[in-house]
Amino acid sequence: MTLPGGIKSVSELPVEGKRVFVRVDFNVPLKNGKITDDARIRATLPTIRHLIERGARIVLGSHLGRPDGQVKPEFSLEPVAARLAELVETDVALADEPVGDGARKVVSDLRDGQIAMLENLRFHPGEEANDEAFARQLASYADIYVNDAFGTAHRAHASTAGMVKFVADKGAGFVMAKEIEFLSRLLGNVDRPYIAVLGGAKVSDKIEVLDSLLDRVNGIVIGGAMANTFLEAQGKSLGKSKVERDKLPIARNFLRKAVERLVPVHLPTDVVVATGLDAEDARAVSVDAIPADQMALDIGPLTIEAYRKVLGAARTVFWNGPMGVFEKPRFAQGTIAVARALAENKLALTVVGGGDSAAAIAQAGLADKVSHVSTGGGASLEFVQGLDLPGIAALRP
Ligand code: 3PG
Repeated sequence: MTLPGGIKSVSELPVEGKRVFVRVDFNVPLKNGKITDDARIRATLPTIRHLIERGARIVLGSHLGRPDGQVKPEFSLEPVAARLAELVETDVALADEPVGDGARKVVSDLRDGQIAMLENLRFHPGEEANDEAFARQLASYADIYVNDAFGTAHRAHASTAGMVKFVADKGAGFVMAKEIEFLSRLLGNVDRPYIAVLGGAKVSDKIEVLDSLLDRVNGIVIGGAMANTFLEAQGKSLGKSKVERDKLPIARNFLRKAVERLVPVHLPTDVVVATGLDAEDARAVSVDAIPADQMALDIGPLTIEAYRKVLGAARTVFWNGPMGVFEKPRFAQGTIAVARALAENKLALTVVGGGDSAAAIAQAGLADKVSHVSTGGGASLEFVQGLDLPGIAALRP
């Protein structure tokens, strides 16, 4: 199956007996050296199994965290290689460096159907700098290049962009192919109404996507701490809530543009407040009556009801970002309600952009009830804006 733009799927590539470099996104959350969510590793299993079954010699490359071009043991891919070995029930030989003698040796020792993993690519400054010499070294380990790292496709790095032109053949892994397939549907002729739900902490992280979605959607639903900044921009008193005061002009400007373009922006009418994250005194209040010593930590029940109605009537939904501090059960109701509203709307194309919203929908046990849960956070946000991601562009003929 050839993808939009003439991109080949891994299933079309002659991988038998070849060295296949697979860029994966194994940037998984770790706590005390243990993986807390292995979804990104499991997502790549179809691609890896496909290659094992065809006797390819698999060279995996990934980054983990942001070690800034230096070797930092806490960012080693060791736990990731161990987890992958468990999942595929075969050895994964981890090189002790991303390029160099150690890397070359594990690659040249590979036999058909075996797996090697390079150490964290960001241990080398050439990765993020998209340095040509580093890209050529990576390419020297491969006869075929496969990108299955959708989560990193918005980065123009050596392993996602620079090395591709130095490898003879290239294509998309199954994760990448599925992401392109579902997310492209949000850019074409979508069924309407198309509603975007955006949450999370910061207006500054999302203002570009908000602006660009104004041209595409029929309504925008806002929650999370970023809603506080919009509410204050409308003249409300937010008490001790997190508000980005320096972003108030941007928030006002956005609300004005939305009115001009006749795109309704749904903001909370009530919020769950407390004196702090661990306080026992949580209760719902109107956004016009937030006590001076309290902070908004979730959307309230009236807002949940209103958002459920908007989402129930939608025929296309893109959701990125939680509605409150969902890690704390007391402030998770708004986020869970959005997850349920998407899961219950069987008539809509429902797409969840990665990161916290993907974790929230998995936590609610509803991940298989929506059309697509993206493995990418920043990458899915850039894609839905219609931006050309370097990691995808590099795969086109
Ligand atoms: C992600 O987790 O969004 C990707 O792995 C990209 O990571 P980065 O933001 O550090 O480039």
